[in-house]
Amino acid sequence: MTAAQETSIDDVTGSEWWRSAVVYQVYPRSFADSDGDGVGDLEGVRQHLDHLEALGVDVLWLSPVYRSPMDDNGYDISDYQQIDPLFGTFADLERLLEDVHRRGMKLVMDLVVNHTSDEHPWFRESRSSRDNPKRDWYWWRPARDGTVPGEPGAEPNNWGSFFSGPAWEYDESTGEYFLHLFSRKQPDLNWENPEVRQAVYSMMRWWLDRGVDGFRMDVINMISKDPSLPDGEVREGEEHGDMGRAVIDGPRVHEFLAEMHREVFAPLGRELLLVGETPGVTIEEARRYTDPARREVDMVFQFEHVQVDRGASKWDVLPFDMRVLRACLARWQDGLAEVGWNSLYWDNHDQPRVVSRFGDDGSCRVESAKLLATLLHLQRGTPYLYQGDELGMTNFPFTSIDQFDDIESVNYFHEAVAKGQAPEEVMARLRAMSRDNSRTPMQWDSSAHAGFTTGTPWLPVNPNHREINAEGQVGVPGSVFEHHRRLVALRHDEPAVVHGDFTLRLADHDQLFAFTRRHEATELLVVANFSGRSARLPAALYDRWADAELLVGERRDAEMLPWESRVHRRVRT
Ligand code: NOJ
Repeated sequence: MTAAQETSIDDVTGSEWWRSAVVYQVYPRSFADSDGDGVGDLEGVRQHLDHLEALGVDVLWLSPVYRSPMDDNGYDISDYQQIDPLFGTFADLERLLEDVHRRGMKLVMDLVVNHTSDEHPWFRESRSSRDNPKRDWYWWRPARDGTVPGEPGAEPNNWGSFFSGPAWEYDESTGEYFLHLFSRKQPDLNWENPEVRQAVYSMMRWWLDRGVDGFRMDVINMISKDPSLPDGEVREGEEHGDMGRAVIDGPRVHEFLAEMHREVFAPLGRELLLVGETPGVTIEEARRYTDPARREVDMVFQFEHVQVDRGASKWDVLPFDMRVLRACLARWQDGLAEVGWNSLYWDNHDQPRVVSRFGDDGSCRVESAKLLATLLHLQRGTPYLYQGDELGMTNFPFTSIDQFDDIESVNYFHEAVAKGQAPEEVMARLRAMSRDNSRTPMQWDSSAHAGFTTGTPWLPVNPNHREINAEGQVGVPGSVFEHHRRLVALRHDEPAVVHGDFTLRLADHDQLFAFTRRHEATELLVVANFSGRSARLPAALYDRWADAELLVGERRDAEMLPWESRVHRRVRT
């Protein structure tokens, strides 16, 4: 056994190790390119594990690296048991896994089983004829009664896909439609069919036999659909109906997850990290998914807090109001206090950069990135950092649709412009919300292409990489990176960060986001001035804390600077 294995996180934390863990998400395409083709790869990830180790994170979550036609950058999988050549070979994956384990970290894979690629052999068979044995592995339906198949409006129901256009694609050769909640190259698997479920479970077992430590389950709350596939409400200004509750937290989803647990995880005898991505999930449903007694998943990604600045759709951008965000996060803290567990995140490969969104990416970028970090790490739950969060990376200054790659953004742009909306207005929405904001290459140093590649990067590098990069921050006191490092360490060293309860303070304050965490004799105060103006700490709260130990931050003054954040600790004797 190596020294690193001796101190693996299992030994330190015992069961439910993920409660004290910090996860780091890598979007491999954009992380580090080892072979100069302009696209990040597995070997690039391995070569940068020192960065993760320096940060102190426990788990690496890898976005999909499986074989894929890349219609949705790997979330459209054509072979679950092969690595896409763009990312390297299976041997590269094994080397990465070994290196991650040698360092005492864990590796969590993305699991995308709501849909496959239309190029997956299962789908090829399914579409080959109406009586193929795999026909029922996907959702095939005839045209609506009284319509001409293939004509607009003949789709089996009125649902719109998440990536624009109808959620149905007509297949001429068999004269029926298949369902795709996402792109037309991502047909939805039919989980009603037990053979589908068994095929997925056996693929999952295969990965677990290879030694991976868990799964991040893509849109897992959409695997059960209301089999009647009812038309959805068509909102004003919309062309298609909303699939809504017919696909979110559907009728059999808990049954399927409990079955998955019984069939795949329970027999394994080691504790994994299982996190479900669950758009539209309510607190009540999240409690069901994550109640340990129900044995479904350990935690879910809820979406409410990343929707506080939008209206009916993600492109309907509203002004940000800290008070709405604070109330939302506090509700989730309370909602999962007794049963279940929260995942904590600001960013991932689907969200714009948080410092541009909720912070100030101009003159207060460093301070606001630190404040956001403090608020994230100090809540109760498991924090997920997305590559570049630890540097305070920002949105990209997009000026033209040609700079985008993301299928969701590109489809939306063309659809909106075709409907007559002004291209400049559509661009402004994309600039604020597009997923490509978080997909621009990781900023390692100030050199050309930010040290991401020696070739031509697949997506442009943010011009601010000359000022914002890892080389300029790792080991540099006062940097965003060092702030994150301190917060990760605090979770490992201070039980109140992991186990403490959560109480919101100053719930009506316009600028201050404050809460306490209490565990046994220890109490922590987290206080942040979530604004660009200084703010006075109310004596009624701060008098008891001003002399307490300062774990994070440098100042004790009752006047908080713009974007300043602090963590205090008191121990009852
Ligand atoms: C959620 C993933 O995070 C996103 O990137 C993807 O486009 C959809 N699911 C479809 O797989």
